[in-house]
Amino acid sequence: MAKITYIEHNGTEHVVDVKPGLTVMEGARDNGIPGIDADCGGACACSTCHAYVTLEWMGRLPKIEAMEEDMLDFAWQPQPGRSRLTCQIKVTEALDGLVVQLPEKQI
Ligand code: FES
Repeated sequence: MAKITYIEHNGTEHVVDVKPGLTVMEGARDNGIPGIDADCGGACACSTCHAYVTLEWMGRLPKIEAMEEDMLDFAWQPQPGRSRLTCQIKVTEALDGLVVQLPEKQI
């Protein structure tokens, strides 16, 4: 299991255990965490699973693919280098301790 912290825009923190193999988006969805809509169900086609990776985790996640990068253009206030689509991040034991911050809203 990987412990992942999701921080809502209002500062509310949710710390949950997510099974490796799921995505960071699925970890939020399965635990009822508000702030990640995931309208397309994880197909990298909606950008409503957008989150900001905290500074200490930048560069420690799997590389961003071109399709994700393109879709991030449609996200709410993306920040280069920090923004990711959580449906494109597969959870592994290496992500234990990951912290993501959720945007003010999803488009
Ligand atoms: Fe639609 Fe991630 S759930 S892009």
